[in-house]
Formats: sequence, structure tokens, C-alpha cells
Amino acid sequence: MTTIQKKISFLKDRAKFEDEEFFKNVFYNENSSLVKREAISSIGRKRKRENIPFFLELLKDKDPNIVLQAIRALLVFKSDQKITNRLKELVNHPNEIIQDVIKKEFFPTKSKDKLPHTQTYDFLKNCAVNDDVLKVLQEVPDESFHLTFTSPPYYNARDYSIYISYQEYLRFLEKVFKEVHRTTKEGRFFLLNTSPVIIPRAGRKYASKRYPIPYDLHNILVDLGWEFIDDIIWLKPEASAKNRIGGFMQHRKPLAYKPNSVTEMVMVYRKKTDKLIDWNIKQYPKEIIEKSLVNGSFETTNVWKINPTNHKVHSAVFPLELCEKVIKYYSFVGDIVFDPFGGVGTLAKAAILNERLFFTTELDKNYFLALKKELSQTLSQVKFLSSLKEFKEYKNAKS
Ligand SMILES: C[S@@+](CC[C@H](N)C(=O)[O-])C[C@H]1O[C@@H](n2cnc3c(N)ncnc32)[C@H](O)[C@@H]1O
Repeated sequence: MTTIQKKISFLKDRAKFEDEEFFKNVFYNENSSLVKREAISSIGRKRKRENIPFFLELLKDKDPNIVLQAIRALLVFKSDQKITNRLKELVNHPNEIIQDVIKKEFFPTKSKDKLPHTQTYDFLKNCAVNDDVLKVLQEVPDESFHLTFTSPPYYNARDYSIYISYQEYLRFLEKVFKEVHRTTKEGRFFLLNTSPVIIPRAGRKYASKRYPIPYDLHNILVDLGWEFIDDIIWLKPEASAKNRIGGFMQHRKPLAYKPNSVTEMVMVYRKKTDKLIDWNIKQYPKEIIEKSLVNGSFETTNVWKINPTNHKVHSAVFPLELCEKVIKYYSFVGDIVFDPFGGVGTLAKAAILNERLFFTTELDKNYFLALKKELSQTLSQVKFLSSLKEFKEYKNAKS
């Protein structure tokens, strides 16, 4: 046991026998934040009004953990308007955890969901639209989707994605992810597959340029109200990587080291809410939870080894295995999953195979034809809509 652990254990033992003056003394004479917090907690447990001024004073402490401990003690007197008003002011505290606690207590998240959490709109169920995702999403109500998993168009790396500048590319994705946020149900997940891309050099005189897409998108997502949850690494076999290390293998010169890239990121975000994941799970009946349990083997680390897939028509498709894992780990049977950049419909196919519903959009006509072919072979009742106009008509007919 360290000295600090011994002191904490001593304070716990004395909790019943000593008065608050004893613990205040400990608080004022201690340096360790952990010991100080234990002392505050012992005073708090006594739930005496005469200790309120002491706790109010602690709200000005420079250590956010002390402030949090004082908040906890003061919340016992929440019915006192003066205390509530003082606590509410802490919503502007510089520390983000303190802000979150105050928001949860006094400014709880309001859901805009017009349906029960487990339900969605009929016109979205198993439907694929051949049009621009930003236009289509204007027709989708708030809080419609349970899960989104997507791989956005690569920045000017493939023939289908040409943007005037990197900033414009990021701005476009920001608009899409803002809409995904609006249309995602409370506390549900958004998984984003990206990786840095290289734009080849313009000539022998120039350097190629590498864009750190996942890292640039991260701050954008957090600012939109997505809470960062996990970073999963999709690891591919070395043979599948483009060879960048060949030159270095010959010359071995420092600074010119360029490792082969065998990973992609699968970033995991949750729509920020003050509700715990347990709240989301509790929205489902027991039978659905039982049916959705992840049976068999699963990854125990954030490194997922999956082979990439080739497709006759599309040069950058998800492996079906990756989509199936994401769907199983982050949604329930009967949920609706969304891919704004549907490609040939791999996520949609995985949804069908795993008893989920899907909604997807794809801009390109050829890819949409391939998607139609893939999905028709998997499920007979898919709704394929070849334009925004058709989608609007279908929505009206179903509503
Ligand atoms: C990386 S691919 C996705 C492939 C998909 N994950 C699959 O497994 O087939 C990105 C796709 O986004 C599509 N796309 C680009 N801009 C779009 C937009 N504004 N609206 C809808 N789709 C778009 C591209 O045509 C491309 O098929």
C-alpha cells in the first residue's frame, strides 16, 4: 500500500467516529488531491446544512476533482434554490467534465425523436436512393437512424471524387456529418472508415502530398456534437499494401523512410447525450436483446485483421466481414443502419444478412446499378429510387 492509499483507508475507517472539523483539518493540511477528496466525501456523507458554506467555497478550487467532489456534496441540497443557482453557473466552468455533470443535472438533453427509440419511419426501411446524400437527407426526419457506418469518398484519390481543394472536401464532409448527427437517434453510434491519402506529385520537381484525413475529421466531428468513443485499426495483410518502402530498402537513407501502409481507421463516435449506453439498451424488449447478443468469437482488441475486397465495378468497397462486425457490435436486430456513401451497397447487404433494416444513398449511376444488382440478389423487397424526386414521391405515398 502506498502512503496515499494508507491515508485514504485511515480516513474511511474514521468516517463514523470523527466530526467534520477533523476532516476539514485533514483537507487543509493535505497536499494529495485523492486524500483531500476522501476528506470532502466524509464531510459530505454527514449531509449537514452547516457544511454548505465549506462546499460552496470549494467550488472555487483550482483542482477540478475537488470541485466535482464539492458538487456531489451540494447536490444533496438540490431543493434549495440558492444552491441550485450557484451550481447552474458551473455550466460555464472551464473543465468539460464539470460542465457535463451540471448539464446532466440541470439541463438534460432533449430528444427530438417523434417515435419510440427502437422504431423508425416506414419510408426509410430497406430503401436505396440514387442521388446526392445532402439533398436526400433534407427529407429525413430528426432521429431516424440507429447506426451509421460509412467510408467517405477519398479526397481526389479516385476518379469519382474530385474537389477543388482539401478545405472544400472537409467542408463537404462536415455538412454530411452534421446531417448524420441530426438524423441519428439519441446516444447512438457513428463509425467512420478513413485513412490518410497521398496525392501523387505533380512532377519530378515536386513532392507528393499526404493528407491526414482521420485526424482532420476528428475535431470537426467533436465540434458537431459527436463524442469520441474508440479508434479501431483495420489491419490488412502486407501483400495488399502499395509498395512505398522499395526505394528505402535499396538506399537506406534516413528521412526518406516511407513505411507501407497496411491499416485504415474505423473511428467510433456516439451522439453526445447525458444518457448512459445502458439507457439505450433498456429501450429494447428482452427478446430483442437476447436475439442481438454477439455470439461466437469477436475481437478483444482494437486491431481487427480483415482482408480487403475487390469489386468488378467499384474500386473501394467495404469487405462484407467488416460491415457485419460493425452491425453486430453496434446495433440491435430490427434497427435501421445508414450509409450515406453507399457504393455497391455492402453495408446494406450486411444489414439484410443480420436481420437489420437499411437506408442508403449513392450518387453515381453505375455504382447504383451495381448496388441494385447486389441487393436484389439478397432480398426481394428492396425499394430502389432513382432520384430525389422519386424518393419524395415515395415518402409522400408512405406517410
Ligand atoms: C468509398 S466509396 C463507398 C463504398 C462502399 N462503402 C461500398 O462498400 O460499396 C464512396 C462512395 O461515395 C459516393 N459519393 C460521393 N459523393 C456522394 C454524394 N454527394 N452523395 C452520395 N454518394 C456520394 C461515391 O460515388 C462512392 O461510391
